[in-house]
Amino acid sequence: MAEPILEISGLVKHYPLTTGILFKKQVGAVKAVDGVDFTLHRGETLGIVGESGCGKSTVAKMLVNLERPTAGSIRYKGEDIGRLSGRALKAVRRNIQMVFQDPYTSLNPRMTVGDIVGEPYDIHPEVAPKGDRRRKVQELLDVVGLNPEYINRYPHQFSGGQRQRIGIARGLALRPEVIVADEPVSALDVSVQAQVINLMASLQDEFDLSYVFIAHDLSIVRHISDRVGVMYLGRIVEIGKDAEIYDHPTHPYTQALLSAVPVPDPEAREHRERIILAGDVPSPTDIPSGCRFRTRCWKARERCAAEVPALAVPAGFRHAPGAAAHDSACHFAEERQVVPPDDQTEGAA
Ligand SMILES: Nc1ncnc2c1ncn2[C@@H]1O[C@H](COP(=O)(O)OP(=O)(O)OP(=O)(O)O)[C@@H](O)[C@H]1O
Ligand code: SF4
Ligand SMILES: [Mg+2]
Repeated sequence: MAEPILEISGLVKHYPLTTGILFKKQVGAVKAVDGVDFTLHRGETLGIVGESGCGKSTVAKMLVNLERPTAGSIRYKGEDIGRLSGRALKAVRRNIQMVFQDPYTSLNPRMTVGDIVGEPYDIHPEVAPKGDRRRKVQELLDVVGLNPEYINRYPHQFSGGQRQRIGIARGLALRPEVIVADEPVSALDVSVQAQVINLMASLQDEFDLSYVFIAHDLSIVRHISDRVGVMYLGRIVEIGKDAEIYDHPTHPYTQALLSAVPVPDPEAREHRERIILAGDVPSPTDIPSGCRFRTRCWKARERCAAEVPALAVPAGFRHAPGAAAHDSACHFAEERQVVPPDDQTEGAA
């Protein structure tokens, strides 16, 4: 495997909950991210998936330094970003860029496309000296499949898919090594989603990019991710290679998420089991003891309330190398095929 480009360890973001107006008193915390570990290797795409509110955007914001972690570390090429300041920090920030979810609200409506895409050069003029910017921006528009002559147009003159292309061009402006894409296609029509994902895949090869690709649905990240991490209530509960997660999930939460993924083949769909989870996601201010998934897990037992399951290869699979032997935070991890593997559904759609 290629060398690590980002190493995330024990990442935590707690937002304090306070009462009082003059004398604020902390009465608790929103545990938005509560101990996340993962590694992103050079040139790979790591998909991060989970329901609304599980902490995906908070992780993304910490990766690009829009939020400061409460605890934990983010290492970029071995260097702890939290210990950097001044020029060194600026250089790292240049190399980790973000593409945002909503192309309708994330682009300033009063700026032209040229100004939006070229804005990062104001902070990093060394990448594009003033006289060279227009040419560079036009090159970027061309790279993302937009007509370079549109440089003086405004965001409202573009469709949703085109606006997300503008967002991607802006993300590429500083020639970063890592792009953190926070639900980059969730606001787009299904027909446009595939085009934007294909564009991102081809840019990855062209610019040697590594992606953290966030989505709330496992079906969206399937074809772009090399590995996938599943988040629940501020933590990753299962992580592994694409085929390990989709075809050999061992965590009950992943199995439940997969059971809701659309299956195109009607026959395969009939054989797929639906797992309907009981109850709602608990509040991040009041996380259950032990396994945080236990209030919704059909397999929960006493041990689940007492002991936090570590994100590691479960004991039962440690001596049996195979696709089920990947990290899963469950005391009673078991392999369960929820969706028929690709080769059984091939040609059926
Ligand atoms: N600035 C903040 N102050 C307090 N709580 C916050 C703040 N930002 C996020 N949260 C809370 O942290 C939790 C995680 O939020 P986050 O936006 O990271 O989730 P998400 O997985 O990106 O959700 P979605 O799929 O809806 O985008 C949520 O409960 C949210 O309400
Ligand atoms: S540790 Fe227990 S509650 Fe948690 S996922 Fe596994 S079986 Fe369910
Ligand atoms: Mg989000």
